[in-house]
Amino acid sequence: MDTTVTRSGLDGVVVADTRLSEVDGERGRLVVAGHDIERLAGETSFEALAGLLWTGALPQAAAVEATRQVLAEGRVRAFARLHADELGRFADGMDALRAAMARLSADDGFDAPANLTGAVAVFAAAWGRVRAGGQPLAPDPALPHAADYLRMLTGEAPDPARVAALEAYLVTVADHGMNASTFAARVVASTGSDAVSAIVAAIGALKGPLHGGAPGPVLDMLDAIGEPAGAARWIEAELAAGRRIMGMGHRIYRVRDPRAAVLEAALARLERAGASNGRLALARAVERAAEGALRAKYPDRPLAANVEFYTAVLLDAVGIDRAAFSPTFAAGRVAGWCAHVLEQRATGRLIRPASRYVGPAPLQ
Ligand code: COA
Repeated sequence: MDTTVTRSGLDGVVVADTRLSEVDGERGRLVVAGHDIERLAGETSFEALAGLLWTGALPQAAAVEATRQVLAEGRVRAFARLHADELGRFADGMDALRAAMARLSADDGFDAPANLTGAVAVFAAAWGRVRAGGQPLAPDPALPHAADYLRMLTGEAPDPARVAALEAYLVTVADHGMNASTFAARVVASTGSDAVSAIVAAIGALKGPLHGGAPGPVLDMLDAIGEPAGAARWIEAELAAGRRIMGMGHRIYRVRDPRAAVLEAALARLERAGASNGRLALARAVERAAEGALRAKYPDRPLAANVEFYTAVLLDAVGIDRAAFSPTFAAGRVAGWCAHVLEQRATGRLIRPASRYVGPAPLQ
Protein backbone atom coordinates (compact mmCIF):
# COMPACT_ATOMS: atom_id res chain seq x y z
CA MET A 1 0.00 0.00 0.00
CA ASP A 2 1.28 3.48 -0.88
CA THR A 3 1.43 5.41 2.37
CA THR A 4 3.11 8.53 0.99
CA VAL A 5 1.33 11.83 1.54
CA THR A 6 1.93 13.81 -1.62
CA ARG A 7 -0.61 16.58 -1.08
CA SER A 8 -2.51 17.39 2.03
CA GLY A 9 -5.65 18.40 0.07
CA LEU A 10 -6.27 14.86 -1.23
CA ASP A 11 -6.03 16.27 -4.77
CA GLY A 12 -6.82 13.61 -7.33
CA VAL A 13 -7.49 10.91 -4.71
CA VAL A 14 -10.58 8.90 -5.65
CA VAL A 15 -12.50 8.04 -2.47
CA ALA A 16 -15.73 6.59 -3.87
CA ASP A 17 -17.53 5.23 -6.90
CA THR A 18 -20.60 7.33 -7.48
CA ARG A 19 -23.52 7.30 -9.89
CA LEU A 20 -24.53 10.81 -8.82
CA SER A 21 -22.33 13.27 -10.67
CA GLU A 22 -19.12 13.65 -12.59
CA VAL A 23 -16.95 16.75 -12.67
CA ASP A 24 -14.63 16.92 -15.68
CA GLY A 25 -12.18 19.64 -14.71
CA GLU A 26 -10.24 19.63 -17.97
CA ARG A 27 -13.22 20.07 -20.26
CA GLY A 28 -15.42 22.02 -17.88
CA ARG A 29 -18.26 19.54 -17.89
CA LEU A 30 -20.69 18.58 -15.12
CA VAL A 31 -22.85 15.51 -15.58
CA VAL A 32 -25.56 14.78 -12.99
CA ALA A 33 -26.75 11.16 -13.08
CA GLY A 34 -26.32 10.97 -16.83
CA HIS A 35 -27.47 14.49 -17.74
CA ASP A 36 -25.39 17.54 -18.63
CA ILE A 37 -26.03 20.36 -16.21
CA GLU A 38 -26.84 22.71 -19.12
CA ARG A 39 -29.78 20.43 -20.03
CA LEU A 40 -31.05 20.27 -16.46
CA ALA A 41 -30.82 23.87 -15.28
CA GLY A 42 -33.69 25.98 -16.53
CA GLU A 43 -35.62 22.93 -17.77
CA THR A 44 -35.91 20.70 -14.73
CA SER A 45 -37.78 21.44 -11.54
CA PHE A 46 -36.01 21.03 -8.21
CA GLU A 47 -38.46 18.21 -7.48
CA ALA A 48 -37.44 16.35 -10.66
CA LEU A 49 -33.75 16.88 -9.92
CA ALA A 50 -34.19 15.58 -6.38
CA GLY A 51 -36.00 12.55 -7.80
CA LEU A 52 -33.13 12.01 -10.24
CA LEU A 53 -30.57 12.07 -7.41
CA TRP A 54 -32.58 9.94 -5.02
CA THR A 55 -33.76 7.29 -7.49
CA GLY A 56 -31.25 7.43 -10.35
CA ALA A 57 -33.74 8.33 -13.10
CA LEU A 58 -35.47 11.53 -14.14
CA PRO A 59 -39.00 11.03 -12.81
CA GLN A 60 -42.14 11.16 -14.93
CA ALA A 61 -44.85 13.71 -14.12
CA ALA A 62 -46.64 11.58 -11.50
CA ALA A 63 -43.39 10.88 -9.65
CA VAL A 64 -42.44 14.58 -9.78
CA GLU A 65 -45.79 15.35 -8.18
CA ALA A 66 -45.14 12.72 -5.52
CA THR A 67 -41.74 14.32 -4.75
CA ARG A 68 -43.39 17.74 -4.60
CA GLN A 69 -45.77 16.36 -1.99
CA VAL A 70 -43.14 14.68 0.18
CA LEU A 71 -40.98 17.83 0.07
CA ALA A 72 -44.00 19.90 1.12
CA GLU A 73 -44.67 17.45 3.97
CA GLY A 74 -41.01 17.71 4.95
CA ARG A 75 -41.27 21.51 5.14
CA VAL A 76 -44.41 21.31 7.26
CA ARG A 77 -42.84 18.70 9.57
CA ALA A 78 -39.70 20.83 9.98
CA PHE A 79 -41.67 24.02 10.66
CA ALA A 80 -43.40 22.25 13.57
CA ARG A 81 -39.93 21.66 15.06
CA LEU A 82 -38.65 25.19 14.51
CA HIS A 83 -37.41 27.14 17.54
CA ALA A 84 -37.63 30.65 16.13
CA ASP A 85 -36.47 32.30 19.35
CA GLU A 86 -33.15 30.48 19.13
CA LEU A 87 -32.52 31.44 15.50
CA GLY A 88 -32.28 35.10 16.44
CA ARG A 89 -29.18 34.40 18.51
CA PHE A 90 -27.14 33.71 15.40
CA ALA A 91 -25.60 36.49 13.33
CA ASP A 92 -24.47 33.96 10.74
CA GLY A 93 -27.04 32.02 8.73
CA MET A 94 -24.93 28.89 8.49
CA ASP A 95 -24.48 28.83 12.27
CA ALA A 96 -28.25 29.13 12.64
CA LEU A 97 -28.91 26.43 10.05
CA ARG A 98 -26.41 24.06 11.63
CA ALA A 99 -27.95 24.58 15.09
CA ALA A 100 -31.54 24.18 13.87
CA MET A 101 -30.73 21.01 11.92
CA ALA A 102 -28.83 19.59 14.89
CA ARG A 103 -32.04 19.65 16.97
CA LEU A 104 -33.71 17.19 14.59
CA SER A 105 -33.73 13.47 15.17
CA ALA A 106 -33.54 10.67 12.65
CA ASP A 107 -36.01 8.78 14.88
CA ASP A 108 -38.52 11.56 14.22
CA GLY A 109 -38.56 11.03 10.45
CA PHE A 110 -35.50 13.10 9.63
CA ASP A 111 -33.55 10.29 8.07
CA ALA A 112 -35.67 10.69 4.93
CA PRO A 113 -34.13 12.85 2.17
CA ALA A 114 -37.34 14.78 1.54
CA ASN A 115 -37.74 15.71 5.20
CA LEU A 116 -34.12 16.80 5.50
CA THR A 117 -34.34 18.81 2.28
CA GLY A 118 -37.58 20.40 3.47
CA ALA A 119 -35.97 21.21 6.81
CA VAL A 120 -32.97 23.03 5.34
CA ALA A 121 -35.28 25.26 3.28
CA VAL A 122 -37.55 26.01 6.25
CA PHE A 123 -34.73 26.80 8.69
CA ALA A 124 -32.71 28.85 6.18
CA ALA A 125 -35.79 30.90 5.32
CA ALA A 126 -36.83 31.27 8.96
CA TRP A 127 -33.41 32.61 9.91
CA GLY A 128 -33.62 35.11 7.04
CA ARG A 129 -37.01 36.34 8.29
CA VAL A 130 -35.90 36.62 11.92
CA ARG A 131 -32.73 38.43 10.87
CA ALA A 132 -34.85 40.92 8.91
CA GLY A 133 -36.90 41.58 12.06
CA GLY A 134 -39.90 39.48 11.06
CA GLN A 135 -41.46 36.21 12.10
CA PRO A 136 -40.88 32.90 10.30
CA LEU A 137 -43.55 32.14 7.72
CA ALA A 138 -45.20 28.72 7.74
CA PRO A 139 -44.69 26.68 4.57
CA ASP A 140 -47.40 26.54 1.93
CA PRO A 141 -47.63 22.87 0.95
CA ALA A 142 -49.48 23.79 -2.24
CA LEU A 143 -46.40 25.52 -3.65
CA PRO A 144 -43.44 23.91 -5.38
CA HIS A 145 -40.30 23.80 -3.26
CA ALA A 146 -38.34 26.67 -4.87
CA ALA A 147 -41.35 29.00 -4.89
CA ASP A 148 -42.17 28.25 -1.27
CA TYR A 149 -38.57 28.75 -0.18
CA LEU A 150 -38.50 32.18 -1.82
CA ARG A 151 -41.86 33.10 -0.30
CA MET A 152 -40.84 31.97 3.20
CA LEU A 153 -37.52 33.82 2.91
CA THR A 154 -38.62 37.13 1.40
CA GLY A 155 -42.18 37.26 2.69
CA GLU A 156 -43.43 38.18 -0.77
CA ALA A 157 -45.66 36.37 -3.24
CA PRO A 158 -43.22 34.63 -5.56
CA ASP A 159 -42.67 36.29 -8.94
CA PRO A 160 -42.47 33.54 -11.63
CA ALA A 161 -39.30 34.88 -13.30
CA ARG A 162 -37.46 35.04 -9.98
CA VAL A 163 -38.69 31.60 -8.94
CA ALA A 164 -37.45 30.21 -12.27
CA ALA A 165 -34.03 31.78 -11.70
CA LEU A 166 -33.84 30.44 -8.16
CA GLU A 167 -34.93 27.01 -9.34
CA ALA A 168 -32.20 27.00 -12.00
CA TYR A 169 -29.74 27.85 -9.23
CA LEU A 170 -30.94 25.12 -6.83
CA VAL A 171 -30.77 22.54 -9.63
CA THR A 172 -27.32 23.71 -10.69
CA VAL A 173 -25.78 23.36 -7.24
CA ALA A 174 -27.58 20.21 -6.07
CA ASP A 175 -24.61 17.92 -6.62
CA HIS A 176 -20.99 18.31 -7.61
CA GLY A 177 -18.76 15.28 -7.27
CA MET A 178 -16.69 14.76 -4.14
CA ASN A 179 -16.69 18.34 -2.89
CA ALA A 180 -15.68 18.99 0.73
CA SER A 181 -19.17 19.06 2.25
CA THR A 182 -20.28 15.94 0.37
CA PHE A 183 -17.15 14.17 1.52
CA ALA A 184 -17.87 15.26 5.10
CA ALA A 185 -21.41 13.85 4.82
CA ARG A 186 -20.10 10.57 3.42
CA VAL A 187 -17.48 10.20 6.16
CA VAL A 188 -20.18 10.55 8.81
CA ALA A 189 -22.55 8.21 6.95
CA SER A 190 -19.77 5.64 6.61
CA THR A 191 -19.59 5.25 10.39
CA GLY A 192 -23.20 4.04 10.44
CA SER A 193 -24.33 7.33 11.95
CA ASP A 194 -27.67 8.91 11.05
CA ALA A 195 -28.46 11.26 8.18
CA VAL A 196 -29.09 14.30 10.42
CA SER A 197 -25.52 14.02 11.72
CA ALA A 198 -24.19 13.68 8.17
CA ILE A 199 -26.07 16.79 7.01
CA VAL A 200 -24.95 18.81 10.04
CA ALA A 201 -21.33 17.92 9.26
CA ALA A 202 -21.85 18.91 5.63
CA ILE A 203 -23.31 22.28 6.63
CA GLY A 204 -20.23 22.92 8.74
CA ALA A 205 -17.98 22.19 5.77
CA LEU A 206 -20.04 24.27 3.35
CA LYS A 207 -19.78 27.31 5.59
CA GLY A 208 -16.11 27.90 4.86
CA PRO A 209 -15.15 30.66 2.37
CA LEU A 210 -13.08 28.22 0.32
CA HIS A 211 -16.26 26.18 -0.31
CA GLY A 212 -19.75 27.67 0.01
CA GLY A 213 -19.04 30.89 1.83
CA ALA A 214 -17.76 32.85 -1.17
CA PRO A 215 -20.86 34.37 -2.86
CA GLY A 216 -21.53 37.02 -0.20
CA PRO A 217 -17.95 38.31 -0.50
CA VAL A 218 -18.31 38.29 -4.32
CA LEU A 219 -21.15 40.79 -4.02
CA ASP A 220 -19.10 42.84 -1.55
CA MET A 221 -16.35 42.90 -4.19
CA LEU A 222 -18.73 44.10 -6.92
CA ASP A 223 -20.00 46.81 -4.57
CA ALA A 224 -16.45 47.91 -3.79
CA ILE A 225 -15.54 48.04 -7.49
CA GLY A 226 -18.70 49.94 -8.41
CA GLU A 227 -18.04 50.58 -12.12
CA PRO A 228 -16.65 48.27 -14.84
CA ALA A 229 -13.83 50.76 -15.45
CA GLY A 230 -12.56 50.28 -11.89
CA ALA A 231 -12.31 46.49 -12.08
CA ALA A 232 -8.71 46.00 -13.22
CA ARG A 233 -7.22 48.42 -10.69
CA TRP A 234 -9.17 46.93 -7.78
CA ILE A 235 -8.25 43.35 -8.71
CA GLU A 236 -4.57 44.22 -9.09
CA ALA A 237 -4.54 45.85 -5.65
CA GLU A 238 -6.15 42.79 -4.04
CA LEU A 239 -3.66 40.42 -5.61
CA ALA A 240 -0.76 42.72 -4.68
CA ALA A 241 -2.01 42.60 -1.07
CA GLY A 242 -1.89 38.79 -1.24
CA ARG A 243 -5.66 38.33 -1.06
CA ARG A 244 -7.71 35.84 -3.06
CA ILE A 245 -10.35 36.97 -5.52
CA MET A 246 -13.61 35.42 -4.40
CA GLY A 247 -15.54 33.50 -7.03
CA MET A 248 -12.39 32.71 -9.00
CA GLY A 249 -10.41 29.47 -9.13
CA HIS A 250 -11.36 25.89 -8.42
CA ARG A 251 -9.69 22.76 -7.15
CA ILE A 252 -10.90 20.63 -10.08
CA TYR A 253 -11.71 22.94 -13.00
CA ARG A 254 -8.87 24.03 -15.27
CA VAL A 255 -11.34 26.02 -17.36
CA ARG A 256 -14.38 28.10 -16.50
CA ASP A 257 -16.76 26.28 -14.17
CA PRO A 258 -19.71 25.19 -16.39
CA ARG A 259 -22.08 26.26 -13.62
CA ALA A 260 -20.85 29.84 -14.01
CA ALA A 261 -22.15 29.79 -17.60
CA VAL A 262 -25.45 28.21 -16.57
CA LEU A 263 -26.04 30.83 -13.89
CA GLU A 264 -24.91 33.66 -16.14
CA ALA A 265 -27.51 32.50 -18.68
CA ALA A 266 -30.20 32.33 -15.97
CA LEU A 267 -29.29 35.87 -14.97
CA ALA A 268 -29.53 37.06 -18.57
CA ARG A 269 -33.02 35.46 -18.78
CA LEU A 270 -34.00 37.28 -15.62
CA GLU A 271 -32.76 40.55 -17.10
CA ARG A 272 -34.84 39.94 -20.22
CA ALA A 273 -37.87 39.34 -17.97
CA GLY A 274 -37.29 42.80 -16.54
CA ALA A 275 -36.19 41.59 -13.10
CA SER A 276 -32.59 42.72 -13.26
CA ASN A 277 -30.36 44.17 -10.59
CA GLY A 278 -28.24 45.80 -13.31
CA ARG A 279 -25.12 44.01 -12.16
CA LEU A 280 -24.59 41.61 -15.08
CA ALA A 281 -22.40 44.01 -17.08
CA LEU A 282 -20.29 44.83 -14.02
CA ALA A 283 -19.94 41.15 -13.15
CA ARG A 284 -18.77 40.34 -16.67
CA ALA A 285 -16.19 43.15 -16.56
CA VAL A 286 -14.88 42.03 -13.17
CA GLU A 287 -14.67 38.43 -14.33
CA ARG A 288 -12.62 39.49 -17.39
CA ALA A 289 -10.31 41.63 -15.27
CA ALA A 290 -9.84 38.92 -12.64
CA GLU A 291 -9.18 36.23 -15.22
CA GLY A 292 -6.56 38.40 -16.94
CA ALA A 293 -4.81 39.38 -13.71
CA LEU A 294 -4.77 35.79 -12.43
CA ARG A 295 -3.42 34.58 -15.78
CA ALA A 296 -0.59 37.08 -15.50
CA LYS A 297 0.17 36.08 -11.90
CA TYR A 298 -0.22 32.30 -12.35
CA PRO A 299 0.55 31.58 -16.02
CA ASP A 300 0.74 27.83 -15.37
CA ARG A 301 -2.46 27.51 -13.33
CA PRO A 302 -5.66 28.49 -15.14
CA LEU A 303 -7.95 30.24 -12.64
CA ALA A 304 -11.38 31.16 -13.99
CA ALA A 305 -14.81 31.98 -12.59
CA ASN A 306 -16.38 29.35 -10.38
CA VAL A 307 -20.02 28.76 -9.46
CA GLU A 308 -19.96 31.36 -6.70
CA PHE A 309 -19.21 34.25 -9.04
CA TYR A 310 -22.57 34.37 -10.78
CA THR A 311 -24.38 32.87 -7.79
CA ALA A 312 -23.83 36.17 -6.04
CA VAL A 313 -25.32 38.27 -8.82
CA LEU A 314 -28.14 35.85 -9.57
CA LEU A 315 -29.34 35.45 -5.97
CA ASP A 316 -29.14 39.19 -5.47
CA ALA A 317 -31.33 39.71 -8.54
CA VAL A 318 -33.75 37.08 -7.23
CA GLY A 319 -34.19 39.30 -4.17
CA ILE A 320 -32.23 37.28 -1.62
CA ASP A 321 -30.10 39.13 0.91
CA ARG A 322 -26.39 38.28 0.68
CA ALA A 323 -26.39 37.00 4.26
CA ALA A 324 -28.68 34.19 3.09
CA PHE A 325 -26.58 33.15 0.07
CA SER A 326 -24.74 30.29 1.79
CA PRO A 327 -27.89 28.92 3.48
CA THR A 328 -29.56 29.03 0.05
CA PHE A 329 -26.63 27.06 -1.37
CA ALA A 330 -27.27 24.49 1.37
CA ALA A 331 -30.98 24.40 0.41
CA GLY A 332 -29.93 23.15 -3.04
CA ARG A 333 -26.93 21.00 -2.10
CA VAL A 334 -28.81 19.09 0.61
CA ALA A 335 -30.50 17.05 -2.14
CA GLY A 336 -27.07 15.82 -3.22
CA TRP A 337 -25.85 15.26 0.34
CA CYS A 338 -28.85 13.01 1.02
CA ALA A 339 -28.20 11.02 -2.15
CA HIS A 340 -24.55 10.55 -1.16
CA VAL A 341 -25.55 9.40 2.32
CA LEU A 342 -27.71 6.68 0.74
CA GLU A 343 -24.96 5.73 -1.69
CA GLN A 344 -22.31 5.59 1.04
CA ARG A 345 -24.52 3.48 3.30
CA ALA A 346 -25.00 1.00 0.47
CA THR A 347 -21.24 0.37 0.35
CA GLY A 348 -21.21 -0.57 4.04
CA ARG A 349 -17.58 0.55 4.20
CA LEU A 350 -16.08 2.77 6.91
CA ILE A 351 -14.02 5.68 5.52
CA ARG A 352 -10.90 5.67 7.60
CA PRO A 353 -7.74 6.95 5.90
CA ALA A 354 -4.29 6.99 7.48
CA SER A 355 -1.93 9.73 8.53
CA ARG A 356 1.84 9.84 8.70
CA TYR A 357 3.28 10.63 12.09
CA VAL A 358 5.78 13.51 11.93
CA GLY A 359 5.84 14.34 15.65
CA PRO A 360 8.67 13.75 18.09
CA ALA A 361 9.88 10.24 18.85
CA PRO A 362 8.92 8.96 22.30
CA LEU A 363 11.53 9.38 25.02
CA GLN A 364 13.68 6.23 25.40
N1 COA B 1 -7.44 34.48 -6.12
C1 COA B 1 -6.10 34.64 -6.02
N2 COA B 1 -5.24 33.62 -6.04
C2 COA B 1 -5.75 32.39 -6.17
C3 COA B 1 -7.13 32.17 -6.28
C4 COA B 1 -7.99 33.27 -6.24
N3 COA B 1 -9.32 33.14 -6.32
N4 COA B 1 -7.36 30.83 -6.39
C5 COA B 1 -6.15 30.26 -6.34
N5 COA B 1 -5.18 31.18 -6.19
C6 COA B 1 -3.76 30.97 -6.10
C7 COA B 1 -3.40 30.20 -4.83
O1 COA B 1 -3.19 31.07 -3.74
C8 COA B 1 -2.14 29.50 -5.24
O2 COA B 1 -1.09 30.41 -5.16
P1 COA B 1 0.26 30.10 -4.36
O3 COA B 1 0.82 28.89 -5.01
O4 COA B 1 1.06 31.34 -4.55
O5 COA B 1 -0.16 29.85 -2.94
C9 COA B 1 -2.36 29.22 -6.73
O6 COA B 1 -3.36 30.12 -7.17
C10 COA B 1 -2.83 27.83 -7.02
O7 COA B 1 -3.95 27.57 -6.23
P2 COA B 1 -4.66 26.15 -6.28
O8 COA B 1 -3.81 25.11 -5.63
O9 COA B 1 -5.05 25.90 -7.66
O10 COA B 1 -5.92 26.43 -5.40
P3 COA B 1 -6.75 25.38 -4.54
O11 COA B 1 -7.12 24.22 -5.38
O12 COA B 1 -6.10 25.11 -3.25
O13 COA B 1 -8.00 26.31 -4.23
C11 COA B 1 -9.99 27.43 -4.27
C12 COA B 1 -9.19 26.30 -4.90
C13 COA B 1 -11.42 27.39 -4.80
C14 COA B 1 -10.04 27.20 -2.75
C15 COA B 1 -9.31 28.76 -4.60
O14 COA B 1 -9.28 28.95 -5.98
C16 COA B 1 -9.96 29.95 -3.88
O15 COA B 1 -9.64 30.22 -2.73
N6 COA B 1 -10.88 30.68 -4.58
C17 COA B 1 -11.55 31.79 -3.96
C18 COA B 1 -12.67 31.32 -3.05
C19 COA B 1 -13.83 30.78 -3.84
O16 COA B 1 -14.26 31.34 -4.83
N7 COA B 1 -14.38 29.65 -3.33
C20 COA B 1 -15.51 28.99 -3.94
C21 COA B 1 -15.09 27.72 -4.61
S1 COA B 1 -16.39 26.98 -5.54
